[in-house]
Amino acid sequence: MQVIRTLTELRRRLQDEASIALVPTMGNLHAGHVSLVELARVRASCVVATIFVNRLQFEPGGDFERYPRSLENDLAMLEKAGTHVVFVPEEAEMYPAPQEVMVMPPKIATSLEGEHRLGHFQGVTTVVTKLFNAVRPHIAVFGKKDYQQLQVILALEKQLNFGIRIIPAETVREADGLAMSSRNGYLSAKERVEAVRLNRNLTRVKEAIQAGSVDFAALERAAMDDLSKAGWRVDYVAVRERSTFGLASPASNELVVLGAAWIGKTRLIDNLEIFP
Ligand code: PAJ
Repeated sequence: MQVIRTLTELRRRLQDEASIALVPTMGNLHAGHVSLVELARVRASCVVATIFVNRLQFEPGGDFERYPRSLENDLAMLEKAGTHVVFVPEEAEMYPAPQEVMVMPPKIATSLEGEHRLGHFQGVTTVVTKLFNAVRPHIAVFGKKDYQQLQVILALEKQLNFGIRIIPAETVREADGLAMSSRNGYLSAKERVEAVRLNRNLTRVKEAIQAGSVDFAALERAAMDDLSKAGWRVDYVAVRERSTFGLASPASNELVVLGAAWIGKTRLIDNLEIFP
């Protein structure tokens, strides 16, 4: 495994590769990220992972400064997973000048996460575009854990004609159902036990809909109430159409339930696809 820090060196290293798979990350890796590398490995002969904590996608006052950084451990995990190249640029390499050219995300980026994290998706589409251009991969793997992000990237790829096959990866969970996340490390021992409540509530909504319930608003409200009563600050629990994020139609068989809520100072997100 080769660790590369500059765009010039990256281009040189990748110029003769026949098939390249990109796995973009912000580091502090866990088994979820490793599963993306494993998916990438079976689909391409050269797997490029990137580790870059992208300031552009954090809100002012967000957790950019305290976002966990654990490069040594990340590199060991990537090496073990069979990664060929890791791109770890300094901020000045990705943003040598203030980034003025921004990639405007599609309309589906305005609701849910987009509503609660202003500018977030524009930061994501901009950095992912830069990574696509730097690596020029044939495929790129993104997790369903960040469901709206995945849909935004699918639209980005399609509408800007990147010609990159976007592969979605299933969410990897802890034994109790908590979705793995770099931010889980923020949780105290007590919060960690409580954290599974988000997944429990999404599961309840999913199962009710699969059993035939169509009163989505009532299900969303019950989930949000349960979280609030347990001391969470809820941003949303919402049943939506999977690719448009429009309001869910009872006739649809392409639904997803998504949730975001704060437990103490930590914001957790999760989602479950619904199969009626
Ligand atoms: P990060 O949060 O590090 O996630 C990197 C990739 O890992 C994303 O595609 C994310 O959906 C996936 N992932 C995270 N947790 C997962 C889990 N439990 N199971 C499966 N996949 C999981 O998402 C970002 O970074 C950034 O926004 C990025 C795309 C790198 C742009 O900066």
